[in-house]
Amino acid sequence: MRGRFTLLEETDSTNAYLLERSAAASFHGSVCLAEAQAHGRGRRGRQWIATPYHNVLLSMGWRFASGPGIVAGLSLAAGVALVRALEEYGVPGAGLKWPNDVLWEDKKLAGVLVDVHGEATGPSLIVLGVGVNGYIGSHDAAQIDQPWTDLHTVTGKPVDRNRLAALILRELRHMFEVFADKGLAAFRDAWQRRHQYHGRRVRLLAGSREIIGTVEGIDDHGALLLRDARGVQAFHSGEISLRRVA
Ligand code: BTN
Repeated sequence: MRGRFTLLEETDSTNAYLLERSAAASFHGSVCLAEAQAHGRGRRGRQWIATPYHNVLLSMGWRFASGPGIVAGLSLAAGVALVRALEEYGVPGAGLKWPNDVLWEDKKLAGVLVDVHGEATGPSLIVLGVGVNGYIGSHDAAQIDQPWTDLHTVTGKPVDRNRLAALILRELRHMFEVFADKGLAAFRDAWQRRHQYHGRRVRLLAGSREIIGTVEGIDDHGALLLRDARGVQAFHSGEISLRRVA
């Protein structure tokens, strides 16, 4: 089933655009792309900075029969879909950082933001947003508060955003279909193979807690498994950073 396809010169946020239309019959499979966002949103309440006309900013809407509990796993599966699309585009070697940052040589290249509406028992309406750094101008770069890179730097060439967006949309659609049938299990190995921090000592900031441990992988729901002196614990949210060995 093909949903509505919208290409906007500017919008607040492509995720917000689709969320506002989540009750429409055309929601399932719908896509919104924008050249610029006035209030692009990142994870953990961050702003998503993107120089207009140079980046890939898109969202896809999907309706699942199950409840919003699927979101954590889905957002990890989306990271795998995004890395696969980048590989098809000609950028091998991008990695993942839990839960779904796409990294190139430890710098952020792309991110995934999942919004959900729904009842605990289902159905749930998912809006999955993807931002890929194509080219970030110096004015915008000054506002980004984490190590980042862009495709222009990685490939040394102008970015073919149409081709990349088409590959991402194809991978996302396929990911949604497989996830609806098999869940995160179908993506878990692929995710772990690409996790840049697998087996490494990390610091996890989860609210006011700080946990230091070694990454053992993810569980069936997408929670991060960390081993410390007390054993292996699962964490459902938080931000990890590498813990350098002194
Ligand atoms: C992250 O913080 O890593 C997630 C970034 C997600 C950004 C994309 S850009 C298109 C879509 N619309 C938004 O407002 N955010 C997502």
